[in-house]
Amino acid sequence: MTAISLGSLLYEGKAKRVYATDQADLVAVEYKDDATAFNALKKAQLAGKGELNCQISARLFELLERDGIPTHYLGMPQANWMHVRPVRIVPVEVVIRNTAFGSLCKQMPIEPGTPLDPPLLDLYYKDDAFGDPLLTDARLERLGLLSADQRQQLERLALAVNTSLRRFFAAIQLQLVDFKIELGFTGSGDLVVADEISPDTCRLWDLQVADAQDRILDKDRFRQDLGGVVEAYGEVLKRVQGACPNPRLGK
Ligand code: TMP
Ligand code: ASP
Repeated sequence: MTAISLGSLLYEGKAKRVYATDQADLVAVEYKDDATAFNALKKAQLAGKGELNCQISARLFELLERDGIPTHYLGMPQANWMHVRPVRIVPVEVVIRNTAFGSLCKQMPIEPGTPLDPPLLDLYYKDDAFGDPLLTDARLERLGLLSADQRQQLERLALAVNTSLRRFFAAIQLQLVDFKIELGFTGSGDLVVADEISPDTCRLWDLQVADAQDRILDKDRFRQDLGGVVEAYGEVLKRVQGACPNPRLGK
């Protein structure tokens, strides 16, 4: 870390730890090497994954920022550490799908690989104890998690993230199949993109590879036991790095 001192552990998730620091407006996020899938039924340690996800995420947050999309990101002081603004995470996972794959094709009669235009936006309730269930409008309203205005703002931001990321990835020969983001409210009440954006949370296919398995450069390699997980994440970083070589250090 830089001159900023770590305080207490505020939260530990499956892939990251969040620490308070001696600065009230800054928390430090440590990206771990733990990989989990299927609500942590499947677990492994993948040496180097934390660092790769932190490096990729930092650059993607900077890219979003350049496109005028607000995020919690402040800087990356070390290879697997990120400085972010403290936010109150909205317990809603926003998934946007540009191409049908994954759970959508298990739950609906839609062929894997079908283009989705306009993209499909789904909200899931973020709670592992309940298995992150799909939210309906009525359930979202019943839970009282977001006002109608806040929901509209959240969906607009998520669609803007999709437009920005999709264009960016296409330019480095990656197809953004789908992704999940989380958003949070800052102390001043602004909604910003939070958590991480990485091959753990996006499906990315190599546009230069035709084979349906070989082209997978995301956590599906781990979910489906395809091997080469860290190598695939490394390939994503290599391409993302070309477009954003030097992310800023800590605040
Ligand atoms: P799904 O097809 O399993 O619903 O996943 C859709 C996208 O969301 C995919 O890019 C992976 C991502 N995702 C997460 O980041 N965390 C999760 O817990 C799940 C289920 C999916
Ligand atoms: N992130 C979830 C888990 O850790 C599910 C997934 O990404 O497949 O279990």
